[in-house]
Amino acid sequence: MTRRVAIFISGGGSNMVSLVDSMTGDHPARPCLVISNQPDAGGLAKASAKGIPTAVVDHRPFKGDRAAFEAELARVVDAAKPDILCLAGFMRVLTEGFVSRYEGRMLNIHPSLLPKYRGLNTHARALEAGDAEHGCTVHEVTPELDDGPILGQARVPVLPGDTPDSLAARVLVEEHKLYPAVLRRFASGDRSPIYLP
Ligand code: GAR
Repeated sequence: MTRRVAIFISGGGSNMVSLVDSMTGDHPARPCLVISNQPDAGGLAKASAKGIPTAVVDHRPFKGDRAAFEAELARVVDAAKPDILCLAGFMRVLTEGFVSRYEGRMLNIHPSLLPKYRGLNTHARALEAGDAEHGCTVHEVTPELDDGPILGQARVPVLPGDTPDSLAARVLVEEHKLYPAVLRRFASGDRSPIYLP
Protein backbone atom coordinates (compact mmCIF):
# COMPACT_ATOMS: atom_id res chain seq x y z
CA MET A 1 0.00 0.00 0.00
CA THR A 2 1.36 3.41 -0.93
CA ARG A 3 2.28 5.48 2.12
CA ARG A 4 1.13 9.11 2.26
CA VAL A 5 3.74 11.65 3.35
CA ALA A 6 3.16 15.14 4.82
CA ILE A 7 6.20 17.42 4.73
CA PHE A 8 6.62 20.31 7.18
CA ILE A 9 8.68 23.33 6.12
CA SER A 10 9.43 26.86 7.29
CA GLY A 11 11.68 28.17 4.52
CA GLY A 12 13.11 27.45 1.11
CA GLY A 13 12.23 23.79 1.24
CA SER A 14 15.24 22.31 -0.57
CA ASN A 15 14.94 19.14 1.52
CA MET A 16 11.22 19.01 0.76
CA VAL A 17 12.02 19.18 -2.97
CA SER A 18 14.55 16.36 -2.67
CA LEU A 19 11.98 14.21 -0.84
CA VAL A 20 9.20 14.98 -3.32
CA ASP A 21 11.42 14.32 -6.33
CA SER A 22 12.44 10.96 -4.87
CA MET A 23 8.86 9.69 -4.49
CA THR A 24 8.33 8.36 -8.00
CA GLY A 25 8.26 4.98 -9.72
CA ASP A 26 8.43 2.03 -7.34
CA HIS A 27 8.93 4.25 -4.27
CA PRO A 28 6.57 3.06 -1.51
CA ALA A 29 5.37 6.60 -0.69
CA ARG A 30 3.88 9.69 -2.28
CA PRO A 31 3.58 13.27 -0.97
CA CYS A 32 0.08 14.26 0.19
CA LEU A 33 0.72 17.68 1.77
CA VAL A 34 3.38 20.36 2.22
CA ILE A 35 2.58 22.46 5.28
CA SER A 36 4.33 25.57 6.60
CA ASN A 37 4.07 27.75 9.68
CA GLN A 38 5.47 30.63 7.58
CA PRO A 39 3.06 32.06 4.98
CA ASP A 40 6.00 33.34 2.90
CA ALA A 41 8.04 30.12 2.94
CA GLY A 42 9.64 29.78 -0.49
CA GLY A 43 9.00 26.04 -0.50
CA LEU A 44 5.23 26.52 -0.76
CA ALA A 45 5.40 27.77 -4.35
CA LYS A 46 7.84 24.98 -5.23
CA ALA A 47 5.40 22.38 -3.88
CA SER A 48 2.43 23.94 -5.67
CA ALA A 49 4.40 23.95 -8.93
CA LYS A 50 4.80 20.20 -8.47
CA GLY A 51 1.06 19.76 -7.98
CA ILE A 52 1.24 18.97 -4.25
CA PRO A 53 -1.47 20.34 -1.94
CA THR A 54 -0.10 23.02 0.39
CA ALA A 55 -1.31 24.55 3.62
CA VAL A 56 -0.21 27.27 6.01
CA VAL A 57 -0.83 27.36 9.73
CA ASP A 58 0.81 30.60 10.83
CA HIS A 59 1.93 30.34 14.45
CA ARG A 60 1.87 34.11 15.04
CA PRO A 61 -1.88 34.68 15.50
CA PHE A 62 -1.77 32.11 18.32
CA LYS A 63 0.48 34.50 20.30
CA GLY A 64 2.49 31.83 22.07
CA ASP A 65 -0.46 29.51 22.74
CA ARG A 66 1.36 26.39 21.55
CA ALA A 67 -1.52 24.05 22.36
CA ALA A 68 -3.93 26.05 20.18
CA PHE A 69 -1.38 26.31 17.33
CA GLU A 70 -0.70 22.60 17.43
CA ALA A 71 -4.42 21.75 17.57
CA GLU A 72 -4.93 23.67 14.33
CA LEU A 73 -1.79 22.13 12.82
CA ALA A 74 -3.05 18.64 13.70
CA ARG A 75 -6.50 19.38 12.25
CA VAL A 76 -4.99 20.41 8.89
CA VAL A 77 -2.44 17.58 8.86
CA ASP A 78 -5.01 14.92 9.76
CA ALA A 79 -7.30 16.07 6.93
CA ALA A 80 -4.54 14.97 4.51
CA LYS A 81 -4.45 11.50 6.16
CA PRO A 82 -0.65 11.08 6.17
CA ASP A 83 1.00 7.83 7.21
CA ILE A 84 4.41 9.50 7.62
CA LEU A 85 5.30 13.06 8.65
CA CYS A 86 8.65 14.54 7.60
CA LEU A 87 9.97 17.68 9.28
CA ALA A 88 12.21 19.30 6.66
CA GLY A 89 13.53 22.62 7.91
CA PHE A 90 10.46 23.12 10.13
CA MET A 91 11.65 25.68 12.66
CA ARG A 92 8.99 25.40 15.39
CA VAL A 93 9.56 23.23 18.41
CA LEU A 94 6.65 20.77 18.74
CA THR A 95 5.40 19.81 22.19
CA GLU A 96 4.89 16.35 23.58
CA GLY A 97 1.16 16.53 22.91
CA PHE A 98 1.68 16.91 19.17
CA VAL A 99 4.64 14.57 18.89
CA SER A 100 2.98 11.71 20.77
CA ARG A 101 -0.06 11.94 18.47
CA TYR A 102 2.21 10.84 15.59
CA GLU A 103 4.58 8.61 17.57
CA GLY A 104 6.71 6.36 15.36
CA ARG A 105 5.56 8.12 12.19
CA MET A 106 7.43 11.45 12.35
CA LEU A 107 10.96 12.04 11.03
CA ASN A 108 13.24 15.08 11.25
CA ILE A 109 16.45 16.12 9.56
CA HIS A 110 18.92 17.99 11.73
CA PRO A 111 22.14 19.63 10.48
CA SER A 112 24.62 17.99 12.84
CA LEU A 113 25.94 14.59 13.76
CA LEU A 114 23.57 13.99 16.67
CA PRO A 115 23.89 13.69 19.61
CA LYS A 116 26.25 16.62 18.97
CA TYR A 117 24.75 20.11 18.62
CA ARG A 118 21.06 19.83 19.25
CA GLY A 119 19.20 23.08 18.61
CA LEU A 120 20.37 26.01 16.50
CA ASN A 121 23.63 27.33 14.98
CA THR A 122 25.02 23.85 14.51
CA HIS A 123 27.58 24.78 11.84
CA ALA A 124 29.11 27.61 13.87
CA ARG A 125 29.26 25.37 16.93
CA ALA A 126 31.06 22.60 14.99
CA LEU A 127 33.60 25.16 13.74
CA GLU A 128 34.08 26.66 17.19
CA ALA A 129 34.72 23.21 18.63
CA GLY A 130 37.39 22.57 16.00
CA ASP A 131 35.65 19.44 14.75
CA ALA A 132 37.34 17.65 11.84
CA GLU A 133 34.00 16.42 10.53
CA HIS A 134 30.39 17.48 10.63
CA GLY A 135 27.21 16.31 8.98
CA CYS A 136 23.50 15.67 9.29
CA THR A 137 21.14 13.23 10.94
CA VAL A 138 17.66 11.93 10.20
CA HIS A 139 15.92 10.68 13.32
CA GLU A 140 12.53 9.70 14.62
CA VAL A 141 10.92 12.59 16.45
CA THR A 142 10.35 12.12 20.18
CA PRO A 143 9.27 14.78 22.70
CA GLU A 144 12.93 15.57 23.54
CA LEU A 145 14.37 18.18 21.10
CA ASP A 146 16.55 16.66 18.34
CA ASP A 147 16.54 13.30 20.06
CA GLY A 148 14.96 9.99 19.14
CA PRO A 149 16.26 6.91 17.34
CA ILE A 150 18.75 7.70 14.58
CA LEU A 151 17.65 6.53 11.13
CA GLY A 152 20.63 7.83 9.18
CA GLN A 153 23.70 10.06 9.19
CA ALA A 154 25.94 11.58 6.53
CA ARG A 155 29.36 13.07 7.23
CA VAL A 156 31.37 15.82 5.56
CA PRO A 157 34.91 17.00 6.28
CA VAL A 158 35.46 20.41 7.86
CA LEU A 159 37.95 22.20 5.59
CA PRO A 160 40.47 24.96 6.36
CA GLY A 161 38.85 28.37 5.88
CA ASP A 162 35.30 27.03 6.30
CA THR A 163 32.67 29.49 7.47
CA PRO A 164 29.28 28.51 8.91
CA ASP A 165 27.81 29.20 5.45
CA SER A 166 30.33 27.14 3.48
CA LEU A 167 29.95 24.27 5.92
CA ALA A 168 26.14 24.52 5.79
CA ALA A 169 26.23 24.33 2.01
CA ARG A 170 28.44 21.21 2.09
CA VAL A 171 26.12 19.57 4.66
CA LEU A 172 23.01 20.48 2.66
CA VAL A 173 24.27 18.52 -0.36
CA GLU A 174 24.41 15.44 1.89
CA GLU A 175 21.00 16.19 3.43
CA HIS A 176 19.51 15.94 -0.04
CA LYS A 177 20.93 12.43 -0.43
CA LEU A 178 20.34 11.19 3.12
CA TYR A 179 16.72 12.20 3.71
CA PRO A 180 15.33 10.55 0.54
CA ALA A 181 17.37 7.39 1.25
CA VAL A 182 16.01 7.19 4.80
CA LEU A 183 12.43 7.96 3.77
CA ARG A 184 12.44 5.21 1.15
CA ARG A 185 13.71 2.69 3.68
CA PHE A 186 11.37 3.89 6.45
CA ALA A 187 8.32 3.84 4.14
CA SER A 188 9.07 0.24 3.28
CA GLY A 189 8.97 -0.62 7.00
CA ASP A 190 12.72 -0.79 7.63
CA ARG A 191 14.00 1.36 10.50
CA SER A 192 17.62 0.22 10.38
CA PRO A 193 19.93 3.25 10.10
CA ILE A 194 21.71 4.34 6.91
CA TYR A 195 25.23 5.77 7.11
CA LEU A 196 26.50 7.82 4.14
CA PRO A 197 28.79 8.02 2.33
C1 GAR B 1 18.30 22.30 6.64
O1 GAR B 1 19.70 22.46 6.73
C2 GAR B 1 17.79 21.49 7.82
O2 GAR B 1 18.67 20.48 8.23
C3 GAR B 1 17.68 22.55 8.86
O3 GAR B 1 17.17 23.68 8.20
C4 GAR B 1 17.59 23.64 6.83
C5 GAR B 1 16.37 23.77 5.95
O4 GAR B 1 16.70 23.94 4.62
N1 GAR B 1 16.83 22.14 9.93
C6 GAR B 1 16.97 22.54 11.19
O5 GAR B 1 17.83 23.31 11.56
C7 GAR B 1 15.94 21.96 12.13
N2 GAR B 1 16.23 22.35 13.48
P1 GAR B 1 15.63 23.71 3.47
O6 GAR B 1 14.39 24.54 3.84
O7 GAR B 1 16.29 24.20 2.24
O8 GAR B 1 15.31 22.25 3.44
